[in-house]
Amino acid sequence: MLKVAPSLLAADFLRIGDEIRRMKEAGADWLHYDVMDGAFVPNISFGQGILKAAAGAELLPCDVHLMIERPERYIEEFAAAGAKVITVHAEATNHLNRVLHQIRDCGCLAGVALNPATSPECLRYVLGDFDLALVMTVNPGFGGQKMVMSAVEKIAEIDAMLKRAGVQAEIEVDGGVNEKNAPLLIGKGATVLVAGSALFHAPDAAAFIRSVKA
Ligand code: DX5
Ligand code: ZN
Repeated sequence: MLKVAPSLLAADFLRIGDEIRRMKEAGADWLHYDVMDGAFVPNISFGQGILKAAAGAELLPCDVHLMIERPERYIEEFAAAGAKVITVHAEATNHLNRVLHQIRDCGCLAGVALNPATSPECLRYVLGDFDLALVMTVNPGFGGQKMVMSAVEKIAEIDAMLKRAGVQAEIEVDGGVNEKNAPLLIGKGATVLVAGSALFHAPDAAAFIRSVKA
């Protein structure tokens, strides 16, 4: 069953609690929580404190996307703040295998994110060590960007790689997702769709989620 994960980055920050509740009521499955450090990506977003409040409200499971250099420094803190999934970028660590096990040891699901220009080959030798592969369909750092279409084929490549190896993992797609391109992404094998601007600014969030899931 397809999951929809609204990206909190597109919410009204003055009313974060109401925005999460609105997404839950609209039928969202996870809350996608984008952490940016101003180094791995040009932008700075939010950290463990707001996650603790969002996760503590127990409205939606928190899907934490760490766009930070050397994420191994912060795994325990984000796990303690209530993350259900913690995803690190393959490009941001020298020790991908180790950090994935660090995440699982904290009791969270472990994810690997790939920038649009990163080859899916970097997943080959960690197959079985992650629970989720995150295909970035924009260059990370900002919400509201246009989808990089060349990254879309990677979804099918990862799906084939997982099936060949007999490994179970979610394939999450993040960046520029909307009602129009969702069927293409699902057809390629996406099992979790992150949606920021298109979902938070939709006139009817419930209708958006229903149409994507249909
Ligand atoms: C981009 C973030 C995304 C972003 C998605 O760096 O990882 O999660 O918020 O936002 P939209 O859906 O607006 O592209
Ligand atoms: Zn994200």
